[in-house]
Amino acid sequence: MDRSNKPSAIGVGTSLPQPTISFRDNTVEATLPSGESVTVHLYGATVTSWKLANGKEQLFLSQKAHLDGSKPIRGGIPVVFPVFGPPPQNHATSALPQHGFARNSTWEFLGKSSSESLGRDRKDGDDTVKLDFGLSHPMLSDEFQKAWPYEFGLVYSVTLTKDSLETSLQVQNKGSQNFDFQVLMHTYLNIEDISQIRVKNLESTTYIDKTQNASVHTQQSPALEINKETDRVYKSLDPKVPIVVSSTVDDQPLFSVARQGLNDVVVWNPWIEKAKGMADFGPDEAYKNMICIEAGSVASWQTLEAGDSWEGSQVIRARL
Ligand code: BG6
Repeated sequence: MDRSNKPSAIGVGTSLPQPTISFRDNTVEATLPSGESVTVHLYGATVTSWKLANGKEQLFLSQKAHLDGSKPIRGGIPVVFPVFGPPPQNHATSALPQHGFARNSTWEFLGKSSSESLGRDRKDGDDTVKLDFGLSHPMLSDEFQKAWPYEFGLVYSVTLTKDSLETSLQVQNKGSQNFDFQVLMHTYLNIEDISQIRVKNLESTTYIDKTQNASVHTQQSPALEINKETDRVYKSLDPKVPIVVSSTVDDQPLFSVARQGLNDVVVWNPWIEKAKGMADFGPDEAYKNMICIEAGSVASWQTLEAGDSWEGSQVIRARL
């Protein structure tokens, strides 16, 4: 048999190291050949772990978090949709629980893509992996279906690279009536000591202080220190300017959070009394080890017309 026309390129690259994906106990875990990993629970499509190659955990997860689907997961990155906070009265979301239904519904794992299919350079092997998750109206519990009767589709993509984690949400209106929604990625960042961080790039912006009867203030300081219960909605920020959590030890960034389409940012730390009051938050002192930097669209409502879709994303970079 004449094999002179055998395409020599077949097989080239297949020996390059590939990300590994495991799927067990309703949890998807992806690990890059260089050692970084991400874990996502189908319950809420909640990212519960993001580790760098050195094994260092970047997300805070409460030791008392419920991982059995009985309650939204306290920590990681819960997805808030279609309402942020307690729903307003006489609104299409009024019958929903605080922060909506996305974080307490079971999503579907749609599959993974890696550098090659994402069109990224892969000369050193695949150093990117993207996991896609879906949620749609028929997948909701009867209670949620009744409470929010809109035909929607959500596609949530979690992309892990060597130095970043990207989460991206596409909202589709598959029905014949418009709907309004709010959305937020409720990221719990893992920090060593709340007294040794500052949150930067919020100055001169207006925020709603939820600890002071939702009164409106302007951020004066260029470096926000967290030394008490903090629950603020910073409105209409420039998404091109990343929010930076920096260390007071060397004034270098520990995390930066860049956003697209998510122009509001919530900064939350429950502090000691609220932490003690949350049954799924523990240990009590763990409020010192977390800061929530929540990228969202929550200060007003997005209206999505029938047949349209909307997308928002964040890229979190960690100090290597
Ligand atoms: C934040 C809100 O996004 O989430 C806070 O601004 C709220 O007001 C916090 O306390 C946690 O909410 P939950 O429902 O997870 O306890």
